Amino acid sequence: MIIKKADIETVAVKPSQYPETDIPEIAFAGRSNVGKSSLLNLLTNRRNLARTSGNPGKTRTINFYRVNDDFRIVDLPGYGYAKISRSQSEGWGQMIETYLEGRTTLLKVVQLVDIRHEPSAQDVQMYNYLRHFGLDGIVVATKADKVSTNEKQKCISVIRKTLGLSAEDKVIPVSALKRTGHEVLLEELEHLLAS
Ligand code: GTP
Ligand code: MG
Repeated sequence: MIIKKADIETVAVKPSQYPETDIPEIAFAGRSNVGKSSLLNLLTNRRNLARTSGNPGKTRTINFYRVNDDFRIVDLPGYGYAKISRSQSEGWGQMIETYLEGRTTLLKVVQLVDIRHEPSAQDVQMYNYLRHFGLDGIVVATKADKVSTNEKQKCISVIRKTLGLSAEDKVIPVSALKRTGHEVLLEELEHLLAS
């Protein structure tokens, strides 16, 4: 798939602000700072379409990006950021849950985990939640540039094991820095959208 066009369509915190349900959506979920917004920029080949930051907690709303007028990529706020207040964190959790449970045009959620670390308890919880709603199946291992080629397979095995992935679930290593892995993910998304 070639992305010819990508633009922010809507920024929302509640369902009444979501765009109309005219095209399918693929959402990106993962911890704060894992690289969700960077992945969106990589896929769309737009350096600053989504704002990124070295400080976790950058994306605080549900951001809908319209791609090729065919589908949307939905950049969700990150979870697991310790430095925000409990009530704020619960608010974000609720905002994400409301979207994931209620959105009829949501086709799949790409779960992002940092390739260097064993998935956290919250990552496991999120993946099980996605599994429950049939939204699971694609995991992106971000920041693949941070491990050597030798370490890569080992890291991916740890991710597979900790998330309890089945043989057909995909783990795709991606680096937004080195700009690698996005073609594989785009192919996966194309396949999904065609099915
Ligand atoms: P929140 O919006 O806070 O949930 O974070 P996010 O998941 O959107 O992360 P974001 O894309 O803002 O990236 C967080 C930090 O990780 C930034 O400093 C990025 O430059 C860095 N980063 C993202 N992807 C990569 C990557 O592939 N390699 C390296 N080395 N750094 C990356
Ligand atoms: Mg972000």
